[in-house]
Amino acid sequence: MRFFKPDWSLTKKEVRVSMNVFFQPEMTEKELVLFREFIEKEFGIRMPDSKKMLLQSRLSKRLRELNLKSFNEYFKYLTSDKGKENEFNTFVDLVSTHVTKFFREPNHFEYIFENILPDFVKAGKSQIRIWSSASSTGEEAYSIAIIMEEFISQHPKITMDYEIVGTDISMPVIDKAKAGVYNEDSVLELSRYLKYKYFMKSKDRDQKLIKVVPEIRKKVNFRYMNLMDDTYSIGTKFNIVFCRNVLIYFDKKTQEKIIKNIINNLKDDGYLILGHSETIIGMDVGVKNVIPTIYKKSF
Ligand SMILES: C[S@@+](CC[C@H](N)C(=O)[O-])C[C@H]1O[C@@H](n2cnc3c(N)ncnc32)[C@H](O)[C@@H]1O
Repeated sequence: MRFFKPDWSLTKKEVRVSMNVFFQPEMTEKELVLFREFIEKEFGIRMPDSKKMLLQSRLSKRLRELNLKSFNEYFKYLTSDKGKENEFNTFVDLVSTHVTKFFREPNHFEYIFENILPDFVKAGKSQIRIWSSASSTGEEAYSIAIIMEEFISQHPKITMDYEIVGTDISMPVIDKAKAGVYNEDSVLELSRYLKYKYFMKSKDRDQKLIKVVPEIRKKVNFRYMNLMDDTYSIGTKFNIVFCRNVLIYFDKKTQEKIIKNIINNLKDDGYLILGHSETIIGMDVGVKNVIPTIYKKSF
C-alpha cells in the first residue's frame, strides 16, 4: 500500500499525473480499429491484434505526457489540424521499430566488398551511389561507408568515389543518424582496427559515447522520405539500394508497390538488398536473385 500513497506535497495536477503511472487505460476494440486503420493508411504498417499490447503500452506513455484520459482523446488530437502539425512525428516514432546495428546481417557487406565492388571496377564505374532506404539511426549507412572506405584504401590504383543517402520516415532517428553519436557498446563487436579508424571517443569518458569520424559523416546524407509515397524524388539512380527490415511491416500489395518504386530508382545493373526475413519471390519486378536476399536488376 505504501507505494501507492500519493505524495501530498505535490500539486493536484502532479498527483493526477503520477497516479496515472499505475492506472494505464485499456485500449478498446473500437480505439484499436481507429489506430489500426490510420496507421495502415498513412504508413502502410500492419497492426495485427497481436500488436495491441505493444501499441497500448507505447501510446499510454504519450497519453500521460499529454495528460489525456483515453486513446480516443489522443486520436482526436492526433488527427486535428494542431495534432497533424505538432504530434505526427512523435506518433510515427512511437509506432515504428527502429532496431538496427552496425554491420547487421554482415554477409551483405562481405558480398559487396568481395563481389559487387570488384565487378563495378571491371565495368569501369568510378562514382558509386548507395541508398539506405529505411536508415533508422544511421548504423546501416555508416557501415556501408566504412566498407567503401576500406575497399578504396585497399585498392590504391583504382579511381572510385561514393555517396550514400539515408532516408527514414521518423525525424528523431534521422536527427540521431545525422549526429552520428552512439553508445560505445554499439561498436563492441567491431575489430579494434575499424573502431580506431572510424570512431572518436567522447572527451568525457563517463559518458562512454563514440562519434563517427567527419570523413565518413560528410559522405552520408540523411533525410526524410516515406516509402509509401507514390513516386520518390531522390536524385539520380543508385548502384545499390538497401531496403532491409522494413518490408516486413507492410502487406504484400504495398511491398510490391515499394519494390517497384525502388527499382525505378536503381541503375540498370544495380543491386537491391533485402533483410534476411524478407522476400520478393513471386513479384514480377524485373530483378534476378543473385544470392539469398540480394537481387540484381535485369530487364
Ligand atoms: C527496423 S528499422 C531497420 C533499420 C535498418 N534498415 C536495418 O536493417 O538495420 C525500420 C525502419 O524503417 C522505418 N520506416 C517504417 N516505415 C517507413 C516508411 N513508410 N518509410 C520510410 N521508412 C519507414 C522506421 O522508422 C525504422 O527506422
